[in-house]
Amino acid sequence: MISARNLVKRFGLKSVLRGLDFEVAEGEFVGLLGPNGAGKTTFLRILASLARPSLGRVEVAGFSLPEQAAQVRRRLGVLSHQPLLYPDLTGEENLTFFGRLYNVQNLPERIRNVLALVGLEGRGRDLVRTYSRGMQQRLAIGRAVIHDPDILLLDEPYTGLDQDASAMLDDVLRKVTAEGRTVVMTSHDLVRAQDLCSRFDVLTRGRILASASRQDVPPDGLQAFYRRSVSSLEPGRAGAHDG
Ligand SMILES: Nc1ncnc2c1ncn2[C@@H]1O[C@H](COP(=O)(O)OP(=O)(O)O)[C@@H](O)[C@H]1O
Ligand SMILES: [Mg+2]
Repeated sequence: MISARNLVKRFGLKSVLRGLDFEVAEGEFVGLLGPNGAGKTTFLRILASLARPSLGRVEVAGFSLPEQAAQVRRRLGVLSHQPLLYPDLTGEENLTFFGRLYNVQNLPERIRNVLALVGLEGRGRDLVRTYSRGMQQRLAIGRAVIHDPDILLLDEPYTGLDQDASAMLDDVLRKVTAEGRTVVMTSHDLVRAQDLCSRFDVLTRGRILASASRQDVPPDGLQAFYRRSVSSLEPGRAGAHDG
């Protein structure tokens, strides 16, 4: 579903991605882990066709980027740091706006289904600025799936949510992903990643230098896997190799 080969992204003289390779098969739920500044957001923005790689090849859902960005966007749902919602419109009006952008058929029915999917039935007629942060995040997920995309890219979806809101987001993500979608999610929250993801990739030094499938990581073992993956690459440690 997603393939990136030898991806390089530079900002001026700084190389953020340095020959990154990444493959995702249909139905996988990949947790993209890595320290702050590793390039996770940059990489997701390239997959979402919101930024161009300096070098390398990207294919998403069988289309090449950046040439076929329009086809890719139709198959993608993206949740980024900004919720991309209009606070002075109602939840329904927001979904109507984004549904029309994507030319969604039977939109009123689709909106009812999406509001139910994200647990906002009964709140669709309220202004988004009256929603809690957790409700806004769930509506943002509704917005991201309104056109029934095959692939979801989620950048730190739990940021700023309290415990209850995070638990609700867990339920929503489970439902949304149970529909057979392919998901790539960045997260600092290793407990949630361990629960949700079928695979864990660690982005450090501009590449994916460690990857493990869910079966390979013991319960509660993601923290240890992550620490190992990151610390073996710090300069001055045994086995360190600078790229
Ligand atoms: N538009 C930009 N211009 C210059 N530097 C950028 C830009 N976007 C990101 N960076 C830099 O790229 C690095 C990776 O950032 P980012 O992708 O946001 O990392 P992460 O999401 O893993 O925390 C950081 O050092 C950041 O400062
Ligand atoms: Mg980021």
